[in-house]
Amino acid sequence: MASSSPAGSTKPPSQGPLGLATHPLRPSDIRSDSVEGARSPLDVAAIRRDFPILSRRVHGHRLVYLDNAATTQKPLVVLERLNHYYRSTNANIHRGIHRLAEEATALYEETREHTARFLAATDPRGVVFTSGATGALNLLASSWGHWLRPGDEILLTEMEHHSNLVPWFLVARERGAQVRHIPVTEDGRLDLTRLGELLTERTRIVSLTQVSNVLGTINPIRAIADAAHAVGALVSVDAAQGAPHHAIDVQALGCDALSFSAHKVLGPTGVGVLWVKPDLLERMEPYQGGGEMIREVQMDGATWAEIPHRFEAGTPNIAGVVALGPALDYVERLGYDAIGRHGEAIITYALDRLRGLGGLRILGPTDPTERSGAIAFADPVVHPHDLSTVLDQEGVAIRAGHHCAQPLHRRYGLVATARASFYIYNDRDDVDALVAAIESARRYFG
Ligand SMILES: Cc1ncc(COP(=O)(O)O)c(C=O)c1O
Repeated sequence: MASSSPAGSTKPPSQGPLGLATHPLRPSDIRSDSVEGARSPLDVAAIRRDFPILSRRVHGHRLVYLDNAATTQKPLVVLERLNHYYRSTNANIHRGIHRLAEEATALYEETREHTARFLAATDPRGVVFTSGATGALNLLASSWGHWLRPGDEILLTEMEHHSNLVPWFLVARERGAQVRHIPVTEDGRLDLTRLGELLTERTRIVSLTQVSNVLGTINPIRAIADAAHAVGALVSVDAAQGAPHHAIDVQALGCDALSFSAHKVLGPTGVGVLWVKPDLLERMEPYQGGGEMIREVQMDGATWAEIPHRFEAGTPNIAGVVALGPALDYVERLGYDAIGRHGEAIITYALDRLRGLGGLRILGPTDPTERSGAIAFADPVVHPHDLSTVLDQEGVAIRAGHHCAQPLHRRYGLVATARASFYIYNDRDDVDALVAAIESARRYFG
């Protein structure tokens, strides 16, 4: 089988249980300098060759994909793993005593171990596969919700995605708990001067995003986690936007639980990860009942399987989980140091160019080192949906709307924004194409 060539680091290619070489590497794909001076440490041209979709044309133009906060594109290694899995291995896991079932189970469990290493978690039993970050947060809210009593408080922030708001609203309503929020400042930071008054002995849970999907703000998770633990609260981190851009170390973050989606880190859709400290996971109530999550079932009751299987009822997205492995390999081989420096260079350049247009209201911190991934902005004349439509005609894919963060938009007196979000295969040409397309939209709308 042909294998692709991810633009990677200097680690040797890894082999899965089926002996698939996943990553023949070209060390030259990581640069210490670049064509743009010291701006990006990645060889974007080499990376782009690993992503077949990036060579397609849209409305006669080169595709400029700037909707990475919604989902990232997939490298060949991920596509090949999906294809290979279905062509050579496909079977249900954990149940069958035949060759295919054993191979499928080994691949699935190997990905669990890989994911634990990716999160710097010591015990793979803390890793639960879900349908996405949304699935992970619903599981967590439902299960931790069992421990809430009337009057208890859940502390969220004003910059959360709806996936880290609504699940908590549901449990708060059921248990008679209150939801409170850390507000955001005008320049898109959490207003931590309010933390002392918001964290009290009534606070049972603090759940917040590592990186805002609208503002791009990188939050000081460790400091908030320490303050939350000091009042006895549990801490959940939504790393859906953090995991693509930052090395995750659950010990260093000091959280009790963390969620992310595979599809935002080059992996397939329909797969998410919930990590919970294993001793805490042991004490949590199951979320869904069904096959796989039980030890024994009687006509009138059941006992639960060991963690993490207790939280994975039914047949999971096996192929998707298996294909998460090469996605994690890909980012690990590039290295988060290089990914971070590339991201910062692109954000710096994009902020400069967008500011240069004049008149745009750009949300989030002005300092590029305090943000990653996304830049949301509003034009005083052109509505974000119109902007997105005109940009699409020029092959530029951005997102327009509230980005599942309505309370945050309301905070800034906005209903919608346009959002450009960047990843490892974007370069200055993409930013230039974005800016040129905004200029033509402005001309079109007068
Ligand atoms: C910060 C944040 N949290 C959660 C989610 C939900 O992720 P998913 O739709 O993959 O479940 C998103 C998706 O955009 C997000 O940006």
